[in-house]
Amino acid sequence: MTMKRSRYSLAVLISGSGSNLQAIIDASVEGRLPAEIGVVISNEPTAFGLERAKRAGIESRVLDHRSYPDRRSYDADLGDLVESFTPDLVVLAGFMRILSPEFIQRFTGRMLNIHPSLLPKYRGLHTHRRVLEAGDSEHGASVHFVTEELDGGPLILQARVPVKPGDDAETLAARVLSREHIIYPQVIRWMAEGRLVMGDKGAFLDGRLLEDPVDLADLELAGR
Ligand code: GAR
Repeated sequence: MTMKRSRYSLAVLISGSGSNLQAIIDASVEGRLPAEIGVVISNEPTAFGLERAKRAGIESRVLDHRSYPDRRSYDADLGDLVESFTPDLVVLAGFMRILSPEFIQRFTGRMLNIHPSLLPKYRGLHTHRRVLEAGDSEHGASVHFVTEELDGGPLILQARVPVKPGDDAETLAARVLSREHIIYPQVIRWMAEGRLVMGDKGAFLDGRLLEDPVDLADLELAGR
């Protein structure tokens, strides 16, 4: 007898609060996302996202990087752990570790990341603070395929938010996060529906190369 899994399956990697994880759980439970989370993996034993997984009845694992001598050995075990759940897609949702090329090669084309900036602006950390320091009037979030270039893989979908007078890093982060919770489930849905693939030249949606990332505002106008 062959076992056929009915739903598109996700491995979600986290390090912290897991509000993006929660948005994915909610979209799945409410029938807005034709996918299920097979496992949540955290490198941080105290990440609140683990509690969210537990409440939703989702399997979780902790793989603490502090128990490993180096990135290479950690990433090798992390890759084996992820693969043991045979996910269709690996979803980095606030996973705050740089991944080695060996790990990334194992999952190329089937691994997504969400980053709190309008990439290619502000790769790396502390994006909200840097946007405020630069005096930008606009900020946002991006979902992209993961490649060996840090925060540099093919862009898929972005959401823009205004920077308002009186904003601090916290108010700005909250505004960006509220958009992240919309764009991440949307991109995962495209993957689950087989509409989105990573090719040599970049991300292809419905067979068309995305020269620029899709803007959430355009999707909303189109009623999708
Ligand atoms: C999110 O803002 C996500 O974009 C960011 O961490 C936060 C996680 O929040 N990711 C990165 O900065 C990756 N470099 P969450 O745990 O509540 O989903």
